[in-house]
Order: sequence, then structure tokens, then C-alpha cells
Amino acid sequence: MEITEIVDNKKQYLNLLLLGDEQESMIDRYLDRGRMYILSEKDVIAVCVVTDEGNGILEIKNLAVRPDSQRKGYGKQLIEYIKDTYRGHFHTLRAGTGDSPSTIPFYEKCGFKRSGYSIKNFFLDNYYHPVYDGGVQLVDMVYLEMKI
Ligand SMILES: CC(C)(COP(=O)(O)OP(=O)(O)OC[C@H]1O[C@@H](n2cnc3c(N)ncnc32)[C@H](O)[C@@H]1OP(=O)(O)O)[C@@H](O)C(=O)NCCC(=O)NCCS
Repeated sequence: MEITEIVDNKKQYLNLLLLGDEQESMIDRYLDRGRMYILSEKDVIAVCVVTDEGNGILEIKNLAVRPDSQRKGYGKQLIEYIKDTYRGHFHTLRAGTGDSPSTIPFYEKCGFKRSGYSIKNFFLDNYYHPVYDGGVQLVDMVYLEMKI
């Protein structure tokens, strides 16, 4: 298993990025300024994009594991790698996500706690189509965080 930073041509992994964030125009808002990592074994399995949000906060903007490789620990390994890489440079790791039963429990298992902060109607206001995940329609962006 290898984790590598991708600096050039980040869109070559668009299929994976679209798993974590289904609208390309939303990915374009953070991809250039974000730092992107891929996890691979023989093939590429997962992707993660993080951004510097200022005031010591690092944010996970996109995290996606190939469907045939989910629930095997790869997502958690990428988060551990991000924590190890950025510890000492940022005090908080934050993740924004829809209030979905398939992502919130994952982040909680990785040690994140709900911050209490959310952006109301984020998915209604910013996406062209209704966004569904884990069988529910996403409405608000909710934030989870942990100290690193
Ligand atoms: C969410 C996602 C990144 C999780 O990655 P993953 O590799 O499947 O998760 P892991 O195998 O590392 O799971 C880590 C822990 O979370 C738990 N977990 C993962 N998904 C879960 C779910 N849907 N419900 C409950 N627990 C879950 C695992 O059981 C594991 O628990 P453990 O540490 O006690 O063994 C992955 O499912 C994914 O890419 N989904 C589609 C894209 C997406 O929704 N991205 C997040 C928004 S940016």
C-alpha cells in the first residue's frame, strides 16, 4: 500500500473525486488550492483532497474509496496518513459532509466529533440536482472535527 501526493493533472482521478463529491463544478472550487493524495496497491484505490482553511484548520474536502474496496480500512488509513503528515502544522482536522448515515458513522469511527457548526441548505443551494447518499437526501453541510 502506497500513498502519494498528486501535484499535476489532478483531474485524471476525476472518477474517484466524483464519488466523494458528485458535481464537477463543486470539485473545481477546491481542487487547485487543495493538496491531493492517492492510495494505491496495484491500482488506485482511494483519493483525498485537503485544504488550508486558515487559523490552523485543515479541511478534508473530498475522500473517496473505490466501491469494490470500501469497508476494508482504506479510508481510515488515508485519514491516519493526513493526521501524521499535518500534525504540528495544523491544530484541527475538519471534515464537511452531508448528514448521511454512510459518512457520519465513518468519520466518527475515525475519531471525529460533530462540531455543531453546519451550513444550512448547502446541498440545495449549490448543487444542480438533489443529492442522495445512504438513502437520504442531503440538505445541510455538517462539520466534524478532531484535534491533531
Ligand atoms: C465513506 C468512505 C470514504 C469510507 O471509506 P472506507 O474505506 O469504506 O472505510 P473504512 O473501511 O476505512 O472504515 C473505517 C471505520 O468506519 C466504519 N464505517 C465505514 N463506513 C461505514 C458506514 N457506512 N456505516 C458505519 N460504519 C462505517 C468501518 O466499519 C470502520 O470501523 P472500524 O474502525 O471499527 O473497523 C467510503 O465509503 C466512500 O468512499 N464512500 C463514497 C464517497 C463518500 O461518501 N465520501 C465521503 C464524503 S467526502
